[in-house]
Amino acid sequence: MQKAQRMKEDLKLLALRAGEIVAPRKIHRVLSGHYNGFLGRALVSGARVRARQREDMTALEQGHVAFWSGWAGDTFHRESIDLREQLFREHHANFVDSFAEFVNARPAHSRLVEVGCGNGTVLRYCSEKMPALGSIIGLDLNATAVERAAQAPTLDPRTALHVAEAVEWLTEHPAKGTALLTYGGVFEYFLPEKLQALFSTLAANGPATVALVEPVATDVPFRDVPGSRVFGKEDSFSHNYPQYLEAAGFEVISCEEIYHEDIDALLVLVLAHCPAPRNAV
Ligand SMILES: C[S@@+](CC[C@H](N)C(=O)[O-])C[C@H]1O[C@@H](n2cnc3c(N)ncnc32)[C@H](O)[C@@H]1O
Repeated sequence: MQKAQRMKEDLKLLALRAGEIVAPRKIHRVLSGHYNGFLGRALVSGARVRARQREDMTALEQGHVAFWSGWAGDTFHRESIDLREQLFREHHANFVDSFAEFVNARPAHSRLVEVGCGNGTVLRYCSEKMPALGSIIGLDLNATAVERAAQAPTLDPRTALHVAEAVEWLTEHPAKGTALLTYGGVFEYFLPEKLQALFSTLAANGPATVALVEPVATDVPFRDVPGSRVFGKEDSFSHNYPQYLEAAGFEVISCEEIYHEDIDALLVLVLAHCPAPRNAV
């Protein structure tokens, strides 16, 4: 890490420690995702630095959940609707078209579940492309984004939207034939064991198909690194998706990588299928 970067991180940690002494309740509120503005961002970033330095993955994940559940997550969704829709339509709609084609060709699929549906842009696109599915389900941690998704004038009547944590919801609502999508960085906020639990739950209720568009670390080819590691500006998780999917009983149908210079991110686009129910692994 460069010296300037280290100094920045030290300052954030110092601000966090000072805040915890002077105004612990306020800091608790900020770290629960209720903040806007520069100082809030610096404190939250300080908490991430601390979790990373302690190698406390659970604290990192809790920070992500707090961010996405609170005001900060809502601000992200409100401010990025147009940009993200443009990114999707220009670069990733083709991938979702292939996913839909794959699912449509296998009538055992009963429902689409988009985990981390945010404002619902991609979910609405999918519902048009998958006319035979019985239900179209969007899950997200952010209540305001889900509300916005539910108010869209062109919502397909098969759609159900839930403010829910994905693994909890999928465990409580198992169904054979789930086609599951994440778009634009969702699994990157999941602890490895949570990701494994999700893939195993889907495989246990196979057939199931997974399509994901997720960022990964760029320093070495992501498939060469087994498991997961912390990466990037957000201290989120770079997972070896093919490895986890195959371990759960999925066959990887395609795995493409696209580097986006404008957002300085390498996205992996993975399509995987599990043809029949698998025992939990
Ligand atoms: C980067 S945003 C992507 C949103 C949307 N797919 C898009 O591209 O605009 C990540 C989303 O994942 C959601 N998310 C993160 N962890 C989640 C979880 N465990 N269960 C459900 N949603 C989750 C967040 O609330 C957030 O809306």
